[in-house]
Amino acid sequence: MRKFITFEGVDGSGKSTQAKLLADYLSRSGNKVFLTREPGEGRLGELIRTEILDRKDISIDPYAELCLFCADRAQHVRELILPKLRDGYTVICDRYYDSTLAYQGSGREIDPDLVHRMATASSLGVEPDITFFLSIPVPQALLRLEGRQKEKNRMDEESSEFHRRVDEGYRHLIGKKIPRIKVIEATVSPGEIHMEIRGFFGEL
Ligand code: TMP
Repeated sequence: MRKFITFEGVDGSGKSTQAKLLADYLSRSGNKVFLTREPGEGRLGELIRTEILDRKDISIDPYAELCLFCADRAQHVRELILPKLRDGYTVICDRYYDSTLAYQGSGREIDPDLVHRMATASSLGVEPDITFFLSIPVPQALLRLEGRQKEKNRMDEESSEFHRRVDEGYRHLIGKKIPRIKVIEATVSPGEIHMEIRGFFGEL
């Protein structure tokens, strides 16, 4: 059984819904499951989420943004992910360091080597066992974002060009054929996507 599972994708790809559906499924199958997300868990995480994403009245330098997401991750891994894994939980994380590579490396166009070093350092050596990348064309994802009731965060409000670069960053990563990354077709219904993801866990 894979213990550390991450979900990735552009905003509007439906990954949060899928992370929750998988968490429910694994819990019902008798596993101890901890569902978490980045950024925003723990006290520091909440603070960072509020400052980076929710508040739009200050402009954040791209390097400051990179440091904040990485600070959130290091604390999240230390405070929550590692202890839960040690306690035998399956940890499902909605976004992890691949988001930093795609958003800060490609989206913000910061030197990819620097972003890579910071993103890996911030994980404290904790690598996902499996990562589901929800694949959806950017225009379709942006349409979904438009249709949502909840208020848009700082990233949601970025230009479609920014979201296209983020997607390109993810595609670059996928092109490296990293075995843990599974590309999931996310233009179908949530139920169909969930069934495809469940297929990776065999009979539970
Ligand atoms: P979400 O919780 O709705 O996915 O929003 C989180 C946003 O933060 C999303 O737009 C992606 C962004 N983000 C980064 O830019 N870098 C990161 O390292 C992480 C974890 C998230």
